[in-house]
Amino acid sequence: MTLSPETLRRRLIDHASEPYRAVGRFAYHFARGKLGCDPVFVGLLQRGLFPDDARILDLGCGQGLLAAWLLAARQLYDAGEWSAQWPAPPRVAIRGIDLLPIAVQRAHVAVGKRARFEAGDMRQMDFGQVDVVVIMDAAHYVDERCQDDILRRVRAALPPNGLFLTRVGDAGGGLRFQLSNWIDRTVVLFRGMGWPRLHCRSLPDWIQALEALGFRVETAVMNGDLPLANVMLIARLGEQSGAGA
Ligand SMILES: C[S@@+](CC[C@H](N)C(=O)[O-])C[C@H]1O[C@@H](n2cnc3c(N)ncnc32)[C@H](O)[C@@H]1O
Repeated sequence: MTLSPETLRRRLIDHASEPYRAVGRFAYHFARGKLGCDPVFVGLLQRGLFPDDARILDLGCGQGLLAAWLLAARQLYDAGEWSAQWPAPPRVAIRGIDLLPIAVQRAHVAVGKRARFEAGDMRQMDFGQVDVVVIMDAAHYVDERCQDDILRRVRAALPPNGLFLTRVGDAGGGLRFQLSNWIDRTVVLFRGMGWPRLHCRSLPDWIQALEALGFRVETAVMNGDLPLANVMLIARLGEQSGAGA
């Protein structure tokens, strides 16, 4: 059945949030809220960024929303419910890592049979070999020296045509950046983790760090109408453009 993009978006939010009912009310409503309000999830699918059969490593995966979203997309697609205006969603194998054991536990209960989640620190965990690494809204929790080390290890974990997707706050983004930071800190505070120091860079700094490692970098704003300074960096290795670029 061909769906309109808006109907498909709603179906996806329902479908990807549903497994979080087994975790509890907070996890379920958080999933619905985030998947529904953050345009990045639709943006990733609309752009067809993930290659089919990709091994994806999601660093700072939180409660596993990206995995839940991509798996729900493929399920709907396989059931014939999709939009002719969106590219086919990929089949994926996802490994998520997060520092917070409670987030990993939620991911595990909701999506754990179809993906793999581990509690750990991205500064220390072995990344293995994967096709795509994702760090969404998580790189700024570690200091600049650790960020550089993580970027090097991401590069080493990828094949010659690998893809690195990272959403970062642009420290040169003025008031929008201040608002993004304030939201981040408030969320962390509500999780009982205090008022963290965030380590943000300007967009040119991020791009330079990635290009120095051999990535070709494209930027995409996937914030819809939200007044935020978050930017998705689509960093590719190799000569060819990636799927759906
Ligand atoms: C703003 S949340 C983003 C979660 C997820 N990427 C998403 O988009 O839904 C940032 C996550 O990064 C995790 N995090 C922070 N520092 C980390 C570290 N050193 N290693 C692994 N995860 C970390 C936090 O526990 C939190 O779940």
